[in-house]
Amino acid sequence: MPFFEESLNIKSDNILNGLGSSIIVIDDRSNIAYLNSSAEQFFAGSQTQLKGQEIGQLLPFDSPLMTLIKQVQLSGSGVSDYGLTLDTPRIVKQLINVQVTPVLDYPGFAILNIFKRSMADKIDRQLTHRNTARSVSAMSAMLAHEVKNPLSGIRGAAQLLEQEATGGDQELTQLICDETDRICELVDRMEVFSDQRPLERKSVNAHKVLERVRQIAQNGFAENIKIIEKYDPSLPSINGDHDQLVQIFLNLIKNAAEAINHENGEIILSTAYQHSVHFALPGRVSRALLPLVISVQDNGTGIPVELQDHLFEAFVTSKSNGTGLGLALVAKMIDDHGGVIEFDSYPGKTVFRVILPMSTNPDETD
Ligand SMILES: Nc1ncnc2c1ncn2[C@@H]1O[C@H](COP(=O)(O)OP(=O)(O)OP(=O)(O)O)[C@@H](O)[C@H]1O
Ligand SMILES: [Mg+2]
Repeated sequence: MPFFEESLNIKSDNILNGLGSSIIVIDDRSNIAYLNSSAEQFFAGSQTQLKGQEIGQLLPFDSPLMTLIKQVQLSGSGVSDYGLTLDTPRIVKQLINVQVTPVLDYPGFAILNIFKRSMADKIDRQLTHRNTARSVSAMSAMLAHEVKNPLSGIRGAAQLLEQEATGGDQELTQLICDETDRICELVDRMEVFSDQRPLERKSVNAHKVLERVRQIAQNGFAENIKIIEKYDPSLPSINGDHDQLVQIFLNLIKNAAEAINHENGEIILSTAYQHSVHFALPGRVSRALLPLVISVQDNGTGIPVELQDHLFEAFVTSKSNGTGLGLALVAKMIDDHGGVIEFDSYPGKTVFRVILPMSTNPDETD
């Protein structure tokens, strides 16, 4: 028998039970019609115990999952939600992501596809930067006073000395000036963290931002790297601050370029619109609707594994001349936009995905 015929004989039950995510089918009266093995484990019960039970008996009555199910049953279109917390006597508190989709030809039926943690982990990882931003913010305010003022004094004195100095001494006074400038630049970069001004948000065209960044990159740090654009031409505008968005993607593309250590360097910039994806963000009451996804992918070395858990914290760097402020800044700016950043990385492929809110007022263009 040819291979493909044999594979057709696999029972769909075996496939569903092989999945790592929990699949539950609910009928039009919200009773459980089917569960796969992962779902049995998730709800700590067997098919025989759980089949026929109303899903509401397994979940707290105010569970956001119930709201999603009702929404799908009524609207007939699917929704996804990231970072929901499920907490019932049956299951230990779990962070989940869930997709709820209708069943074709069965009105009122819904399929729940529950993923434990993975995305929630990523969100947690990126949210650690909030605390970082706070601590760096206090430190940068202090540095601005305690370091920048004396530095300008030192620089001024070195310039005065330079006028009298000759030969080798002039080199030394120049060195003092250059080094004080370098410290000032670092303090300036850190000062952005203590900037508490609200964003000036407008309707910003993502492709214009990326085009700007691409031009800067290709005329400088990425001149030998191929940049490929995969854009969704109908992408709605971002609700954001143009200059900060340029800075965000410039930092990401700079890192991508710096990670490429071979001749066939390639950076792929892509944009996409995702329907009905909500994020529950700690500290925010409402669930954010974040439909715009902008990704920066490179074929470089990959992010060193030991850095990955702390990537968005300040001063995390693997570069001898790096400050480790690039991604901390990116994370802060994305957080100020109400967005989310996540990444996947292994040697040869690293992708950073920035997920942003869309503009609701397209007239107010940038
Ligand atoms: N695309 C990438 N590929 C591989 N490693 C990356 C990538 N992006 C970031 N990294 C890793 O994350 C670290 C932190 O990046 P970040 O931009 O915060 O600081 P930096 O680039 O080292 O310094 P700076 O941006 O201040 O010049 C980098 O040192 C690098 O090890
Ligand atoms: Mg960087």
